[in-house]
Amino acid sequence: MKRSGGSDEAKRRAGEAAADRVTDGQVVGLGTGGTAAHAIRALGRAVDAGLDVRGIPTSVASRELAREAGVPLTTLADARPDIAIDGADEIATSDAGFDLVKGGGAAHAREKYVDSAADELLVVADPTKLAETLAGQVPVEVLPDARPVVADAVRGRGGEPTLRAAERKDGPVVTDNGNLVLDCAFEGIDDPAGLAADLSAIPGVVEHGLFVGVGKRQRRKIRGSTPELQVARLDRLPVVRVGAARGVGEDLVDLVVQRVVEVRGDVHVIERFLHSGLDD
Ligand code: 5RP
Repeated sequence: MKRSGGSDEAKRRAGEAAADRVTDGQVVGLGTGGTAAHAIRALGRAVDAGLDVRGIPTSVASRELAREAGVPLTTLADARPDIAIDGADEIATSDAGFDLVKGGGAAHAREKYVDSAADELLVVADPTKLAETLAGQVPVEVLPDARPVVADAVRGRGGEPTLRAAERKDGPVVTDNGNLVLDCAFEGIDDPAGLAADLSAIPGVVEHGLFVGVGKRQRRKIRGSTPELQVARLDRLPVVRVGAARGVGEDLVDLVVQRVVEVRGDVHVIERFLHSGLDD
């Protein structure tokens, strides 16, 4: 479910900071939501100024916005994203990696496969999205006819499903893929990976909004970590940078993982781990 709160100014700074990291010639996964929209507009301005990029949108809304902003588009049939910029409804950090909940805009199915295809994912979020642990709300996109049996299976897993209602239309939200969304409330999520696997295994589920252990694959490969604390102004480092890898796949050589550990007014305390070298 989309969270209220979080200023548009903080979202704008996060989105624009992420767009700044895109370099000439890159293919960019274009996330969905208010924060990602700021990144798309900023990319449009950069294209006007001469930047050569192509975007792969994750929703009808991000495609329309990219067109308006003048970002040239491509598809996964022709290219893979070097980098993806996407928002989140919740971000929890753990030793295993970053766990996200997405799908407040009902775009999580396309977001998941576009974000997963990218070499690097920048999750852009205002500070209200950061949490110790995930609260328990998980959007699940379902095939319309499967809704009753998926709802039963979610209840069997301890969740309470609610059909997401449209706001300016009578009836339910229909996703860009023609499906419905069940917002499933769990009493806390102790085991995000286990819940993600259980939800994926329910016949009729198209995709759920748990993005588990983002950055984990890279972190496991790395040795020689040097934690350091640094204080950065919100307008300079609002991006929770999940992973930055030079090279592709097995050729990872460097990784920066940083997370916001404290917010003091508009100053974020960033814990940054610099890793170098591969665990062979
Ligand atoms: C859409 C999403 C969005 O990225 C998420 O809802 C965050 O949106 P916003 O930046 O507007 O808070 O997952 O499905």
